[in-house]
Amino acid sequence: MGINIGDIVRGKIIDFTHEGNGVLKIDNFTVFVNGGVIGDEVVGKIDKIKKNFAIGSLVNIIEPSKDRIKLDFNIIEAKGGIPLIEYKYSKQLEWKKNKVKMDLEKIGGLADVEVKDTIGMVYPFRYRNHVQIPVGEENGKTVIGFYEVNSNDIVDMDSSILQPEIGNRVINIVRIWMNKYNVKAYDKRNKKGILRHIGIRVNRDNKAMIILVTGSNRLPNEKELVKMLIEEDVISIYQNINKLNSSITYGKEYRKLYGEDRLLDYIGDYKFYLSPNSFFQVNRTQAEVLYNKVVEFLDSDKSDVIYDLYCGIGTISVYIASNVEKVYGIEIVKEAIEDAKENAALNNIDNTEFIVGKAEEVFPKLMKKGIKGNKVVLDPPRKGCEKEVLEAVVELNPEKVVYVSCNSTTMARDVKYLVENGYKVEEVQPVDMFPHTVHVESIILMTYCGMEDKK
Ligand SMILES: C[S@@+](CC[C@H](N)C(=O)[O-])C[C@H]1O[C@@H](n2cnc3c(N)ncnc32)[C@H](O)[C@@H]1O
Repeated sequence: MGINIGDIVRGKIIDFTHEGNGVLKIDNFTVFVNGGVIGDEVVGKIDKIKKNFAIGSLVNIIEPSKDRIKLDFNIIEAKGGIPLIEYKYSKQLEWKKNKVKMDLEKIGGLADVEVKDTIGMVYPFRYRNHVQIPVGEENGKTVIGFYEVNSNDIVDMDSSILQPEIGNRVINIVRIWMNKYNVKAYDKRNKKGILRHIGIRVNRDNKAMIILVTGSNRLPNEKELVKMLIEEDVISIYQNINKLNSSITYGKEYRKLYGEDRLLDYIGDYKFYLSPNSFFQVNRTQAEVLYNKVVEFLDSDKSDVIYDLYCGIGTISVYIASNVEKVYGIEIVKEAIEDAKENAALNNIDNTEFIVGKAEEVFPKLMKKGIKGNKVVLDPPRKGCEKEVLEAVVELNPEKVVYVSCNSTTMARDVKYLVENGYKVEEVQPVDMFPHTVHVESIILMTYCGMEDKK
């Protein structure tokens, strides 16, 4: 192979990687280049060479793709967070559908499954109700913004097209406060400085919870910052202490500085309390689309007993409870389970039971106790389900499994296991939760068809 570091290469982008880099084939060798969209004819410079691929940086776009769009606003934020922003939205939706299809085919071994068109957003901007924005320092100047693709460099920004307006104002307040009181960004390498990240959660009514992530217990001039923030619609402020030298944003310790303990938010007609560390779908509009699909796929009646595994703050449990006999929710985060219990009460729901613990431990135990269920919802984190969970699902033998996933790779792996154990994929529906990113949310309905039918 004749490619070396520093070489200039030219080619057409044919795909995106899971980080959002463009994929080029140069003499059958794969090169990843940041910044282009599928169909762009680009020139790139090779920066790194690995065994099976090379990584390059974009030098120039010689001929733009017919699917490249011109934005009518400035993107100041790093494209690392929104690598597809210049790719036509309808093409993004198509690419996501194909990604799910390819993963089911290649990883799941399911070549003949129909994948529905991705359900997109009417207005695919300002949808993120939770952002975690890194804070750093460059040449003595504070920088607040997202990371550039393939890099730890923060691109300074004063607004982001992904988050509601109030979030942009919060960034600017924090910047003014840091400059005024000479508060430095935290540096993981020498453990000096103060602020690591700004977490911003915004509810449907545009009220915000702010989480100031610091590298130690110190937060000098916090009273001044609180005073400045509450001039906006900020109703809750926490300090989160993260002393770890890792890429995890939030540490375990929270200290309330101001206001409400939790944020009240809504999906459809339901209300939910969110603690600062609870998982909540980042896109409220699309979460409603997704949960309505869960309801449709379950097609429940009053005799159903449903397991909602990885239930978070009980959003899906609450959404499906009114039409069934009972829902069991299992979730690892203790505070999320406390929220789930309150959320059920808040929505006048009394047929849910929430259990804290690892799904892979709690669920098999319930099984052994003889607690039955005829339908299961799985909504695991990116790494998918633990083998023990899937084994317990097979043992329970529910008539329906609804699998919700933000990672089609691990979803395909898990679906393969269920198919090998008597389940059939009935419907696959991608939902665009994360416009302009390469992330794909999808929901799959599986029914039990028996091992005999498989032969
Ligand atoms: C993708 S979220 C889904 C949450 C919820 N279903 C929703 O729609 O908001 C995954 C959830 O799984 C939880 N989780 C992660 N690992 C877990 C485990 N081993 N057992 C149980 N829950 C886990 C996370 O805390 C998170 O709340």
